[in-house]
Amino acid sequence: MGTSPYHPIYDITKTFEENLALGPNPNYKATVKAPLSKKTYSLLGYKVKSPFGAAASPTGADSRYIKAMFDSGYDIVTSKTRRSVYYRPNSFPNIVHIVPGKILKNHNFKELPDRTTASSSDYATLTIANSYGNNSLDPRYWVPDAQKANAEVGKGQLLITSIVGTIQPGFTTEDYYQDFATTALLAKQSGAKVIEINFSCPNVMNEGVLCYDPLAVRAVCQLVRQTVGNTPLIAKIGYFPQPEQLLLEAVATAAAPYVNAISGINTFAAPVYDEAGNQALPGKGRLRAGLSGHAIKDLGLDMTKRLVTIREQKGYKYEVIGVGGVLTPKDFKDYRSAGADAVMSATGALWNPNLANQIKKTL
Ligand SMILES: Cc1cc2nc3c(=O)[nH]c(=O)nc-3n(C[C@H](O)[C@H](O)[C@H](O)COP(=O)(O)O)c2cc1C
Repeated sequence: MGTSPYHPIYDITKTFEENLALGPNPNYKATVKAPLSKKTYSLLGYKVKSPFGAAASPTGADSRYIKAMFDSGYDIVTSKTRRSVYYRPNSFPNIVHIVPGKILKNHNFKELPDRTTASSSDYATLTIANSYGNNSLDPRYWVPDAQKANAEVGKGQLLITSIVGTIQPGFTTEDYYQDFATTALLAKQSGAKVIEINFSCPNVMNEGVLCYDPLAVRAVCQLVRQTVGNTPLIAKIGYFPQPEQLLLEAVATAAAPYVNAISGINTFAAPVYDEAGNQALPGKGRLRAGLSGHAIKDLGLDMTKRLVTIREQKGYKYEVIGVGGVLTPKDFKDYRSAGADAVMSATGALWNPNLANQIKKTL
């Protein structure tokens, strides 16, 4: 990396477990200073120093990573998604760079070619594909660790705990939905101020992607709400192609009575090949991986606009958290102009310790 300011907090050439054992990259430190400001922004009833943060990803791997993010000026940090049971990651490698190229246009899916890998990617067009399978640490580790992380949150900062349900042997659909609530309760017991329900991981074969099923979204949101009382809830969803507008409206309608915010988008699933034309990520069911970063910015922005419009048209109250391809202050501004109440970055945040403070300089 030489003198590059880009020091990923997480080493993609190592496994998740190796990264966890090593802890956050010590070179991941903001060198850009945030201007002094007393201004605050409101998100989900909390005051934050900026309406920008780190979306769920390895930047929230555990309390040490979360602290490194807060220390670098990210005022909102989301934990990696947690489960009620240990869940191992898909086999290594889990992240590959994607050939930098044009942004995926939201209107024309013919422009969605198969993606091929590259050995590296310039920050300006940084695009990656990941496939972890929504792995989770054992609750015997993550619950006490989250207690520590929640206790360390400073003034004007917000830590969001992301959760998902897990299909376990013998589970019915109802058991599966109930497990979201069980996991949310663990999060609440760890001191979570805000809980994000991950409805949108594209990399788990048997669990599917629940966000495209309004009945499932309603059932899970209702169960979680009953279980956590008035803790603010976020529903995290994936991209809905424009012909699926009615489905998006149905999902927003299903979630709106129970959640305080809708966040999107998660990664965008696409086939990923290596330079030789072979499946890039090894193993059954792993041809498709989740794209994130520069290439998906238009998709995320499109969803922010549509979620804001649905809220206005139907009189809903949810806040909108815009995610997808935010690598620069301009990307942040585009999301804010589209109506996002807060903006989050995963890929940009993983690579760029200065992004939060660069954005704060423009506020
Ligand atoms: C390596 C990696 C791991 C991720 N893990 C999670 C996760 O555990 N839970 C979740 O809801 N989203 C997860 N995401 C999705 C991000 O939160 C985000 O929605 C997506 O990457 C799009 O934002 P971006 O373009 O800024 O990366 C992950 C993304 C990446 C790149």
